[in-house]
Amino acid sequence: MKNKKIRLGVLFGGKSAEHEVSLISAKNVIEALDPQKYDVFLIGIDKTGEWRLRDGYAYLMNADNPKLIQLNESKESLALVPKQDRKEIVSYSGNQLQESLQLDVIFPVLHGTYGEDGTVQGLLKLANIPFVGAGVLGSAVGMDKDVMKRLLRDAKIPTANFITLHDYQRNRVSFEGVVKEIGLPFFVKPANLGSSVGISKVKNKEGFGAAVVDAFQYDRKILIEEFIPGREIICSVLGNDDPVVSLPGEIIPNHEFYSYEAKYLDKEGANYKIPVELPQDLIEKFQQVAMDSYRALCCEGMARVDFFLKENGEIIVNEINTIPGFTKISTYPKLWIASGLPYSKLLDKLIELAFDRHEKESQLKTTF
Ligand SMILES: Nc1ncnc2c1ncn2[C@@H]1O[C@H](COP(=O)(O)OP(=O)(O)O)[C@@H](O)[C@H]1O
Ligand SMILES: [Mg+2]
Repeated sequence: MKNKKIRLGVLFGGKSAEHEVSLISAKNVIEALDPQKYDVFLIGIDKTGEWRLRDGYAYLMNADNPKLIQLNESKESLALVPKQDRKEIVSYSGNQLQESLQLDVIFPVLHGTYGEDGTVQGLLKLANIPFVGAGVLGSAVGMDKDVMKRLLRDAKIPTANFITLHDYQRNRVSFEGVVKEIGLPFFVKPANLGSSVGISKVKNKEGFGAAVVDAFQYDRKILIEEFIPGREIICSVLGNDDPVVSLPGEIIPNHEFYSYEAKYLDKEGANYKIPVELPQDLIEKFQQVAMDSYRALCCEGMARVDFFLKENGEIIVNEINTIPGFTKISTYPKLWIASGLPYSKLLDKLIELAFDRHEKESQLKTTF
């Protein structure tokens, strides 16, 4: 007997400064999903946050241009229905209910706020739908660089020194005070974002004011962080209770740092060594620190752990990404390909992990 196909919803776009990046990631995921295994439902979230069903053939405009890519005309709006026994989404246009859609699992291919930060994960959890990637806590912790670094520090995992600045403190910090505490140059970044949006490298007092104003445009909490001179090394992690870690890779930015432009707009923005040749003991050390970070930060499903490797051999964790870029040339899947796991098999594995977690969680007692 033929196995029934899995009804998979792919969520993409979203109300985030990383909307476009998500569209590019999602396009790659959708194209690589095995049509023998999955019935794919495309759920594009527009920049206002509205969920809409999308047409499989024309859901994107300017799909090959990262500057101009955008969601196309859409079909009905969607709403999730929290129910214990049915994984249901309803679609409607105007006030008219169109159809009720049963989905087995959802893959949120969303980066940044309202997607990678636990908000969508909470919604999916309430609706009792299995979903790919970290749960509510792991997503929220991984997104918030301030909380993330505190948890890493608690687990005795080395990170760059930093100062956290809340909106209400914005006029209480002086350039001289920062330099005294963490030296010069330093980085300023919004606590909750990604893709290098709102990040500046500060070298002088003039740059400091502008960097703080810019970062506060994206979040009400920002980080001022010690500059770590070193190579940028990355590892991909995959799994729930027994995660596995890929071979390490290296990102060599051709810009002053790995900025938004270097990541997405400039074709020659960075060179990648995937995998990177390193002494075996160092490879194992990176893999161990990646695993320790993944666990300390309550991750599930997947994450990419990013490091700095200092000249003296010291490993510093920069950050974790719970929904890393997912284009075929993105580092997360490429590290897996280099480690022997092809792109579409990786997607299968992630979906399997989503079911596995949901199954285990649904066995927990909810009454005393
Ligand atoms: N403390 C630091 N020292 C040196 N370079 C840094 C530091 N923080 C960030 N960078 C540079 O900025 C890039 C983006 O910063 P990151 O914290 O990874 O933010 P995002 O979540 O937006 O990717 C890094 O890949 C690196 O090139
Ligand atoms: Mg980063």
